[in-house]
Amino acid sequence: MSSSTPESMQRADQRFLDATPRSKALAGRAREHLPNGVSRSGLVFSHYPLFIERAKGQFLYDVDGRAILDFALAFSALPLGHANPKVLEAMRAQLDKGLAYGLMHESEVELAALLHERVPSMERVRFTSSGTEATMFAVRLARAFTGRTRFARMEGSYHGTHDMMCSGMGASAARAQPGTEDNPVSMGVPRWTADEVEFLPFNDLEGCALAIEAHASELAAVITEPLLGAGGAIPPEPGFLEGLREICDRHGIVLIFDEMISMGLSPGGAQQYYGVDADLTATGKSAGSGMPMGVFGGRADIMALCEPEDGQPAVLHTGSFNAHPLAMVAGVAQLEQLTPKEYSYLGELGDYLRQRARDLAARRGVSLCVTGVQHISAFHYTDGPVRNYRDRLRGDADMAWRVGFSLLGQGYHVPGGSRTNLCTEMTQSDIDGFITALETAFEEAGATGRSGPAA
Ligand SMILES: Cc1ncc(COP(=O)(O)O)c(C=O)c1O
Repeated sequence: MSSSTPESMQRADQRFLDATPRSKALAGRAREHLPNGVSRSGLVFSHYPLFIERAKGQFLYDVDGRAILDFALAFSALPLGHANPKVLEAMRAQLDKGLAYGLMHESEVELAALLHERVPSMERVRFTSSGTEATMFAVRLARAFTGRTRFARMEGSYHGTHDMMCSGMGASAARAQPGTEDNPVSMGVPRWTADEVEFLPFNDLEGCALAIEAHASELAAVITEPLLGAGGAIPPEPGFLEGLREICDRHGIVLIFDEMISMGLSPGGAQQYYGVDADLTATGKSAGSGMPMGVFGGRADIMALCEPEDGQPAVLHTGSFNAHPLAMVAGVAQLEQLTPKEYSYLGELGDYLRQRARDLAARRGVSLCVTGVQHISAFHYTDGPVRNYRDRLRGDADMAWRVGFSLLGQGYHVPGGSRTNLCTEMTQSDIDGFITALETAFEEAGATGRSGPAA
């Protein structure tokens, strides 16, 4: 805890320590074998991370036997919740048939067809083992198609961790500040990667047009999340995506949507939800139902470069576990259950959560701006509006962290105290319980009585 931590946080601290002795013991062992005892850079925690034993529906169950309402849902991969029975059934049936073939199998054709049906712009697709690979191959394809090498992305965007996506104001809001565009976010990434990237201001069409037009003849692609997801669950304003589409068309630039998170907005992802098509789409997560996978796809003429039929050189795309059968059958089983009814339920529940959080913040004088759409929301500890990454940086990240830590001790997993995903297993009474815990968290974190009405 930092020196600015309010004394009330001691209560949250003690609650967490009392409730998690087995996690503490395992964390000690983990540190002997894993750097800082964890397996990913983004896993930040106080004291030690929680260790999870199993998960079902909307709950994680930790090794100390506590049920934790899970608003992370494997980073947006599980709109039906954990251990969905039909997904498990499909995977069990596949297990008996072997794990990986290195040749074609029917389920990858089925999932490709389902994706094409739901997102018509994905005329042809290729599968990968992660979302990081999906954005990497999408950018590679755009470069091959246009013969240009530079690309543009939004400030505060996250597209995975391959070298081309690790420069400047990309991966980490905490480490990359405006003005540091030239500094790779990760050590070990060559500085020249930053020269290949142009950063654009989300929700500022004029700013985007200026930056794109200044380099139009060099740009292979504009890549954006339609909804800035990891960058703060910030929805596009009306006309923004349409405007990007138009600018890209005018300059022969490939428009790539990273729908890793936004695929959950509707059956056809953000492209259906906002009515704007991409040339290429990179997605994964909810298209694979909790299994490691990714997919990139789009216009048939661009995708044809993956395997030209006339024997010309191809865009190299390979991978031992591409289209892994378990991920494919899980993806099919998940998508088949996600009908318009499920999306509208998730949208209503999301509206309910956002409204209740805003009401609570207004009643308790907490400076809070809640952004989001459908089942995805983010809490920014600042007066709104939050329309882009620079607005987001005005938020009090320490406050979000303290609120999140208090919530975790109370049995609610809200990564970074900021972002919530919902699943169809959740109910209004889950949200009501969360709001009660949030009120306690506001008090313990010292958030109450700091501002006038919240945005
Ligand atoms: C928008 C976005 N793009 C790409 C990725 C990378 O996906 P993966 O973690 O499967 O490599 C993520 C993961 O969080 C993401 O949110």
